[in-house]
Amino acid sequence: MASNGKMKALVLSGGKGSRLRPITHTSAKQLIPIANKPILFYGLEAIARAGIKEVGIVVGDTAQEIRAAVGDGSAFGFKATYIPQTEGPLGLAHAVKISHSFIGDSPFLMFLGDNLLKESLNPLVKDFMGKKPSAQILVAKVPNPSAFGVVELNGDGHVKRLVEKPAHPKSDLALVGVYLFDKSIFEAIRHIKPSARGELEITDAIQWLVDHKKKVITRPTDGWWKDTGKIGDLLEANRLIHETMEHSVHKDAQVDSASRLEGRVVLEAGVRVVESVIRGPAIIGANSHIIRSYVGPYSSIYYNTTVENSEIEHSIVLEQAKISNIRRIQDSLIGQRVEVIKSPVKPEAYRIMVGDSSRIEIP
Ligand code: G1P
Repeated sequence: MASNGKMKALVLSGGKGSRLRPITHTSAKQLIPIANKPILFYGLEAIARAGIKEVGIVVGDTAQEIRAAVGDGSAFGFKATYIPQTEGPLGLAHAVKISHSFIGDSPFLMFLGDNLLKESLNPLVKDFMGKKPSAQILVAKVPNPSAFGVVELNGDGHVKRLVEKPAHPKSDLALVGVYLFDKSIFEAIRHIKPSARGELEITDAIQWLVDHKKKVITRPTDGWWKDTGKIGDLLEANRLIHETMEHSVHKDAQVDSASRLEGRVVLEAGVRVVESVIRGPAIIGANSHIIRSYVGPYSSIYYNTTVENSEIEHSIVLEQAKISNIRRIQDSLIGQRVEVIKSPVKPEAYRIMVGDSSRIEIP
């Protein structure tokens, strides 16, 4: 697609994911699968669909894992360049600053790797290329603006003020993690100071553009948007993605005659379903086994996992997990290689070995 000229993209994929521990003790939050696809891939695919060919990926402690998953970008149709944020997660504007040599003088789209967006990026890019502002921000109404960058508009719809995570928000319009900038953002970043949380905030840099009479335009989001920083948001994003999925059963999936698939169910290659009910929307990853179990709506079971004699619904289960003889699991996020099993050993008691910052709720 020629329409976006030489626009580049900058995808931020560092950060510690502290609100998703223990999962993020061992893996990058951007690689948690939603409906069996890493969160980050949804953004990367949208960037590729917008015709962007050069993508810089800012990485932190989880650099290796992100590189292993995304590679050179050819699987997506772009060239990936990795930009290590070696000094630590010092803020979104800091990530932009260290990416200056990659971006050069090009306009660019910045995408926060843990954000998930229903709408296509194509109209955003087209709008930006047509109107040529210094910055284009995407905004969405939220019930909890204090958790985000908040935008206050003038009566005429122009940006008056942007404040990062205000205690007393002046509006319910949050900054979505998708921004378009021209090179003036680098000048803005040179002028701002770290915030109270010790980070160079992109919100403050955009405020600098507003203060210096640069053109900053807003667009409302079209469709849903999720910042997947917490488990509730992950489960909601999972629900939203499930709503868009079609029924599909891989030819190498086996479902015995005593089992039932109800509604939209996705079975990947090598799945075995034995004496079970799977009520969609649900997705079962490659080589996972569902034995004498019930898998309910909004369940995403990743690959090489076993669910036997159990019931699970509205949950995300990562690869190589084992769930056995449990009634019943709901609203849960279960990590890689985790075992949740009912033990035959007496006395009947909870025997638990869990990682740091885990959470277990028992009825
Ligand atoms: C960041 C930005 C914030 C924005 C949010 C969107 O917050 O600082 O302005 O509203 O992303 O996801 P963070 O998620 O880094 O706390």
